[in-house]
Amino acid sequence: MTFQLCYASKTTSPHHQILNDLRDILGEARDFNILHQVQGVLYFADEHFFQCLEGEEVVILHVLEKLYKDPRHHQIKLFRAGHVDQGHFSQWSMKYVRRNSKIQQYFESKGYNHFRPLSLDEQDIPTLLKLLYEIEQPEEFV
Ligand SMILES: Cc1cc2nc3c(=O)[nH]c(=O)nc-3n(C[C@H](O)[C@H](O)[C@H](O)COP(=O)(O)O)c2cc1C
Repeated sequence: MTFQLCYASKTTSPHHQILNDLRDILGEARDFNILHQVQGVLYFADEHFFQCLEGEEVVILHVLEKLYKDPRHHQIKLFRAGHVDQGHFSQWSMKYVRRNSKIQQYFESKGYNHFRPLSLDEQDIPTLLKLLYEIEQPEEFV
């Protein structure tokens, strides 16, 4: 069984700092996640993060503690946290999805002109995860 935890948060960094933040975050995330068999996906747009983490429960809860202490984001809103039969992102130590029209369309269909993951409800998460799983793009984000 895989423990899955999804959350949304908002960056605390000014616009010009974001690319550096993302590079650092993905580097740190992938180093740790590879060592500790954590997988997942990270999306960033319009000042907001959405991330889903999958792995051993004790390890994911440890990452969550680190996330709460991390000054690069705030307003963490937790969505689902629980065991799933199979993780979605087992191929990726941390799949990064940059701004994407399918995600934008999804938020538009919900009445938002911007990526507003803090406004989502628990029941929206499966659709968002499916989109993030299906989007194919190169690893580089710049
Ligand atoms: C949006 C966001 C996502 C992150 N994702 C991960 C992650 O998947 N795995 C991880 O180990 N750290 C992740 N981090 C970084 C951790 O919060 C932490 O800064 C980093 O792991 C270094 O922790 P340490 O100082 O305890 O070694 C993320 C940070 C942010 C802001």
